[in-house]
Amino acid sequence: MHLTRSFAFSCLVATGLALPGIGGTKLQENKARSPGYALKEPPLTTPWTDKVGTNPWPEYPRPLLQRPEWKNLNGVWKYQDAESLDAVQQPPFGQELAQDVLIPSCLESGLSGIQSDWALYSWFSTSFEVSPSWNGEQVLLNFGAVDYEATVFVNGQNAGFHRGGYFRFVVDVTKYLKFDQPNELLVFVHDPTDDGDYVIPIGKQTLRPSHIFYTPCSGIWQSVWLEAAPSNHITQLDLDANMDGQVSITVHSSANETAEAEVTVHKDGETVATHKGPTNEQFQFTVSSPMLWSPDSPNLYNVTVKLGDDQVESYTGFRTISRGKVDGIERPLLNGEFIFMFGTLDQGYWPDGLYTPPSKEAMVYDLQMLKKLGFNMVRKHIKIETDLFYQACDELGLLVIQDMPSLRPLQSRRDANGNSVTILPNEQQQVEFARQLDVMVNQFKSFPSIVTWVVYNEGWGQITAYHPEFALTDRVRQLDPTRLVDSTSGWIDHGAGDFSDNHHYANPQCGSPFYSTPSSPYDASRIGFQGEFGGIGTNVSIENLWNDQAAINTIDQTYEIDTTIEAWNYRSHRLLNELEDQVRLYACSGGVWTQTTDVEGEVNGLMTYDRRVERVDVKQWQADIKALYDAAAARSKGAESS
Ligand SMILES: *[C@@H]1O[C@H](CO)[C@@H](O)[C@H](O)[C@H]1NC(C)=O
Ligand SMILES: *[C@@H]1O[C@H](CO)[C@@H](O)[C@H](O)[C@H]1NC(C)=O
Ligand SMILES: *[C@@H]1O[C@H](CO)[C@@H](O)[C@H](O)[C@H]1NC(C)=O
Repeated sequence: MHLTRSFAFSCLVATGLALPGIGGTKLQENKARSPGYALKEPPLTTPWTDKVGTNPWPEYPRPLLQRPEWKNLNGVWKYQDAESLDAVQQPPFGQELAQDVLIPSCLESGLSGIQSDWALYSWFSTSFEVSPSWNGEQVLLNFGAVDYEATVFVNGQNAGFHRGGYFRFVVDVTKYLKFDQPNELLVFVHDPTDDGDYVIPIGKQTLRPSHIFYTPCSGIWQSVWLEAAPSNHITQLDLDANMDGQVSITVHSSANETAEAEVTVHKDGETVATHKGPTNEQFQFTVSSPMLWSPDSPNLYNVTVKLGDDQVESYTGFRTISRGKVDGIERPLLNGEFIFMFGTLDQGYWPDGLYTPPSKEAMVYDLQMLKKLGFNMVRKHIKIETDLFYQACDELGLLVIQDMPSLRPLQSRRDANGNSVTILPNEQQQVEFARQLDVMVNQFKSFPSIVTWVVYNEGWGQITAYHPEFALTDRVRQLDPTRLVDSTSGWIDHGAGDFSDNHHYANPQCGSPFYSTPSSPYDASRIGFQGEFGGIGTNVSIENLWNDQAAINTIDQTYEIDTTIEAWNYRSHRLLNELEDQVRLYACSGGVWTQTTDVEGEVNGLMTYDRRVERVDVKQWQADIKALYDAAAARSKGAESS
């Protein structure tokens, strides 16, 4: 590798032209756009901003449990700010709310058409018609995610409540419906984020964005849809398929009694197995010699499940995640072999949509970029995405390390004297955190690409008076014995879980006792891992920056800022080589590069926040990443896993 390497491969994409599928349909959309809704110009756009239009996210939102009869409710709804929590006692039934809003979106985003600040209390409304052919069926109203609490009213009646900003929920609205006229749907949303003494799962969101913390997302930020199902219907599939061809499945049903479900596994139109078993308890069967799933060959099998008159489509991948000693060193294993997991810290933030990517195409663009460079993993950082994100990882072959969205970071508030104060959860808040951790694992554990759950990031919200990570790790393993658990990614490690995970910037310090710190001592009995490193950046011109003066002012206060993109690639090369040395010499089994894209005042991405500039010298990065896998492969030669 040469410092003087030609710079030809680091493509500075000054326009959106190099991105797939960009262009041309603006006029049509403007025509279709309802008169009241208009994009609010965000501090930075993406190549997809103008393509969003008024029918966002048309895809079926739940790929692991697909029903043919469904109706997408995404589009332009009405919105109105509310004063307080008490507002929910006086719902504005039958009234036209003040403003137009795009659903799904974050109220703070330009795409919402609102771009508000401190959206703590909000009303949303729309109306929908239900096909008379659905009369006699159960009509289910589904929300992909609402941040943070939602109270749902249908035709003037309180139909349901949900708490937790990252999860899918369903409200059975059958008994409130009219089949011959429009139905009024009204949703009250309360999202405190980090207001006052609230300590709730928020990840990177804060009401006071700065440095590594970003603009919050409030409201209905994932798809809303209706579907019809028979009264006894499938509510969830827990599906795991392993390298030995064993399929383990629990078909959860809405009726509290056991019935027989039929499961069929197909590949390319051919049935490879059919099996019948009881609902609401796990049963197993075997598919002989399945084609295994891995990042290099992401083979998936379709699965059809029938329960009485209900039939849903799903899919799975055959693979086994475990850990074991390879040549005397504790390693993560995929299908029984050491896999060096190398990915990026992936925040899932967008300048136009914040938590909501402008489209599926935009979301998948990031993942394809990682695949192109040779990453085999992505660490989904203290955020949970739409199911379609995990489906894309399953299809592309990207391992996912999934973080639980963290509580408030340490020292997140200043007292009257200006001293920073650590805000940890009280007992009740801790119980709620644990409950939402359960929901995350249960809701997402059937995606084949997820390999590891992370409970805590860098001590944020991590009580130290006792060590809750041990009980939480046991709980995660009980709910999902098929994955590894990274109990504490960075900082405060008492020995829980499967990883000895160090964070260090800019250079990696992976898998060796001389990188120990008192709060995070290296532990050879667990998998040595570099949960974060890198973080280096370059400033870019104003057209590619989040145009917010406070964010611009702090660009050089957080991470190393290199003078040019060429210097950045040189530094990247040195840091990746240093990790390679640690793979060769120590017990380093994987790493996470900070990060996929710039986010707000952080200018340290492989790409800028708008995805218009790639910093990476593609050939150099591909070679450096391949060298990591080669170094890891050399450590497993001739070794027996145990
Ligand atoms: C379901 O059935 C079990 C066993 O008969 C009973 O204990 C439980 O209370 C029932 N649950 C509901 C929600 O009806
Ligand atoms: C699964 O089903 C989808 C939709 O019918 C189809 O496009 C896809 O090719 C199928 N995949 C496999 C592996 O059979
Ligand atoms: C980064 O670039 C922006 C826009 O050109 C500029 O306003 C800002 O001062 C720069 N910051 C640093 C630290 O160079």
